[in-house]
Amino acid sequence: MSNQDPKDPNKGRRRSSDWYGKADKDGFGHRSWMKNRGLPADQFDGRPIIGICNTWSEFNPCNAHFRDIAERVKRGVYEAGGVPMEFPVFSNSESQLRPTAMLYRNLASMDVEESIRGLPMDGVVLLVGCDKTTPALMMGAASCDLPTLVVSGGPMLNGRYKGQLMGSGTHTWKFSEMVKAGEMTLEEFMSAEQDNSRSAGHCMTMGTASTMASFAESIGIALHTNAAIPAVDSRRYVLAQLAGRRIVEMVRQDIKMSDLLKKENFENAIMVNGAIGGSTNAVVHMLAIAGRMGINITLDDWDRLGRDIPCLVNLMPSGEYLMEDFFYAGGLPAVIKELQQWINKDAMTANGNTIWENCQDAECYSRDVIYSVNKPFKPNGGIAVLKGNLAPDGAIIKPSAASPNLMVHRGRAVVFESIEEYHSRIDDPELDIDETCIMVLKYCGPKGYPGMAEVGNMGLPSKVLKKGITDMVRISDARMSGTAYGTVVLHTAPEAAAGGPLAFVENGDFIELDVPNRKLNLEISDEELAKRKAGWNGFSSPYERGYTKIYVDHVNQANQGADLDFLVGKSGTPILRESH
Ligand code: FES
Repeated sequence: MSNQDPKDPNKGRRRSSDWYGKADKDGFGHRSWMKNRGLPADQFDGRPIIGICNTWSEFNPCNAHFRDIAERVKRGVYEAGGVPMEFPVFSNSESQLRPTAMLYRNLASMDVEESIRGLPMDGVVLLVGCDKTTPALMMGAASCDLPTLVVSGGPMLNGRYKGQLMGSGTHTWKFSEMVKAGEMTLEEFMSAEQDNSRSAGHCMTMGTASTMASFAESIGIALHTNAAIPAVDSRRYVLAQLAGRRIVEMVRQDIKMSDLLKKENFENAIMVNGAIGGSTNAVVHMLAIAGRMGINITLDDWDRLGRDIPCLVNLMPSGEYLMEDFFYAGGLPAVIKELQQWINKDAMTANGNTIWENCQDAECYSRDVIYSVNKPFKPNGGIAVLKGNLAPDGAIIKPSAASPNLMVHRGRAVVFESIEEYHSRIDDPELDIDETCIMVLKYCGPKGYPGMAEVGNMGLPSKVLKKGITDMVRISDARMSGTAYGTVVLHTAPEAAAGGPLAFVENGDFIELDVPNRKLNLEISDEELAKRKAGWNGFSSPYERGYTKIYVDHVNQANQGADLDFLVGKSGTPILRESH
């Protein structure tokens, strides 16, 4: 039995031949059981075995169409002379999983990593959609470093409520606040559920799922046009089939994930994130992926590379349109073409072309949706990284989703020691708060929540909303949904549970936020800060066992990507022992 592709004899043994290329007891065991599906013997003759890593789950509605996507990838793999093998992994469902899908991103990445390493595949296609599935699968695959291709599931069709566009998440926050302000009834709010979710696919705002699909395309690990094709558009299925063909070629050409994704690819993805008004969650996910690959990307890179990038895309939550409109307007290639003065044009992408070869002829079909660099939608698209005595290791804010009049603000702190305290007090008429105050939320970071939940965009007090005020400065160690908006400072590091200065803020302290100068300061002396720290009782997690205990004991801080400390880096795919 040949262990090599007869068309490509110089590429050496396939990884899968360590399972299927042996004429002995072990080879018999690996092949024979697979043949119970009726696979002909020639499926094991050395042709590339392609894993299709599927996050399908009925508990993850954003990925619930992935069996169909997987079938299209398989077609492409067969057409190119490979053998597809679909396998399931943990599916982080942002809309269903409690306490937060982010808690399980690293767990899912371990599932992916060990599945890829332990199973006989030569390359892998990652089927991703809902927010955390993209980073989780990329992190796991990066630690293995096989030829790898991402296929996103695509966004839902535009939501529509009473004739108006309705964006996933964005209108959940907006309508919820309108109910609190007395501008909408609870019955109207509840009646909008079906209008919000009209088809298969993930959130159709430029939330985290669309941001990460754009990330996959701009960094070069997904095929050209991956980001915006709606989930139910026939072209999504064409892309999946082409991905199946391409991954077989990548195996034959031995193009590993690390051969494709260089520092310049990461830099391009940061700049594109600024131009699309992408989610703040991209920061923590990219830091984690870079950490797996050994590529030195820091918060400072985010600030440096995003500083001059204007926001070009008029999509919710920063703007008014949705992903379907974005696709019809030209999608990500039209945005990348606009960034020609900044991007690394020679960065390679998964289809074998450079990013510039892919995008130089892209056309924009609607300047209402995709603006030009000369006339941008908003001047500041990048993520701003703030430092100061309240965030020695950094905190972030998304200026394009914030209020310009709050970019420089000094206010009195109103402190919530937990999210439960926030919920119990925020609408108390006796709460001493007005729109000039700064809301501070503690213990919602990686260790504290645990899992760094999307609670940083805490809603405003009813009594402020009733004045017609819709934004206030909010600061926390949490994340916020990519579909959310507001002047919200996030990812404060170190977090309160790790003894960061956020833990020592008290009601009545004054805080200075200065986004243009990247400052976030608590206006107390170093001596007073040290005194409060000395009197701190520390943080004790209630989790005594299981994955959550491992997570709390080992999670890194947000500025390091919130990966588990022992998962940073990669081990490749060597397997030292047989199974029997
Ligand atoms: Fe899955 Fe938004 S809930 S992408």
